[in-house]
Amino acid sequence: MNIIERLYDRARERSGKILFPEALMDERVMEACKQLIEKNICEIVVLGGREQFPVEFKSNPLVTIINPKIYPRKKEMVKLFMLKRKKKKIDHDTALNMLEDPRYFATMLVEMREADAMVIGAYYTSADALRPALQIIKGKDNERVTGAMLMYRQDFNFPQLFLDISLNENPNAEELAQIGIAGAKFYENTFHKTAKVAFLSYSTFGSADGEMVMKVRNATNIAKERSNFTIEGELQYDAATIPEVAKTKCPSSYIKGKANVLVFPDLNSGNIGYKIAQRLGGCQAIGPIMLNFKYPVNDLSRGCSVQDIFDTAVITKLQIEGENV
Ligand SMILES: CC(C)(COP(=O)(O)OP(=O)(O)OC[C@H]1O[C@@H](n2cnc3c(N)ncnc32)[C@H](O)[C@@H]1OP(=O)(O)O)[C@@H](O)C(=O)NCCC(=O)NCCS
Repeated sequence: MNIIERLYDRARERSGKILFPEALMDERVMEACKQLIEKNICEIVVLGGREQFPVEFKSNPLVTIINPKIYPRKKEMVKLFMLKRKKKKIDHDTALNMLEDPRYFATMLVEMREADAMVIGAYYTSADALRPALQIIKGKDNERVTGAMLMYRQDFNFPQLFLDISLNENPNAEELAQIGIAGAKFYENTFHKTAKVAFLSYSTFGSADGEMVMKVRNATNIAKERSNFTIEGELQYDAATIPEVAKTKCPSSYIKGKANVLVFPDLNSGNIGYKIAQRLGGCQAIGPIMLNFKYPVNDLSRGCSVQDIFDTAVITKLQIEGENV
């Protein structure tokens, strides 16, 4: 049983509708939708004309089909869209035009609570898939939205969460603290296990100094002040995750080489780091999982398999109703 399969039952126990705006654009999404309702994982919302969907969708109480061409709340949607993008001074016709784009229409459906969450990105690039959600749904309490990757290998007791691996290029100390706290919340809510957060650097507890180290040290202090999670920094990756190394490099550490949430100082290191763990370390990489959106939105890779879409939906379901974000 893989790490996500263990979460299937927990996903089933919760209620929640997930929107798949690409169901008609991509066969893999359609197939994943079929499997999700067959296995009773979640309710789904899909976009298009009823006649475009398979018979089993039409009479299934787990499926909501919304046809953008005859959507009854369109006027309300346009008004709300203009309000949401007020600072961009979007006029009525431009708003109508933008809402013809399935990405914007779908994002507004989530904002209007027609769906609790959205999974998108099998067809669109990540930036194109996420931009409308970043503009409209935005981060919870205006915090940074962050992209995380679960790294798992059979010989691990629990996965490690790496972040940010996809979104924030060069976060400042404040933003890095937000990223670390979002990771800790997600980890505890998903795995029901204490998050041990390490803010990573090339330095361990003052073994080196410099601007880059200071940023990580400041982020650690901000995150500690703002939350009750178990947080330490700055730590090198080995001091954070290998108990024998922790004993030598940082004997006073209370994480003791058992960190499970690893906060990288910038996007270069986070993205490179997870790929090394995947390719050289033989870890399974599950994600990206977007954290801190006001309502859960997750982005798929365009190379994703049906199973990847299914598993992303399972994680998304667990993020619904503020459990994780
Ligand atoms: C996702 C990304 C591509 C969007 O970039 P963009 O199209 O240039 O858009 P902007 O940076 O202007 O941001 C658009 C809106 O999203 C918001 N936003 C961007 N990143 C955000 C984040 N991490 N958290 C919260 N809001 C964010 C911006 O504040 C902006 O809001 P506004 O329009 O209300 O002012 C951008 O975050 C990025 O370039 N990230 C770097 C990494 C990357 O390219 N990743 C690939 C995609 S995963």
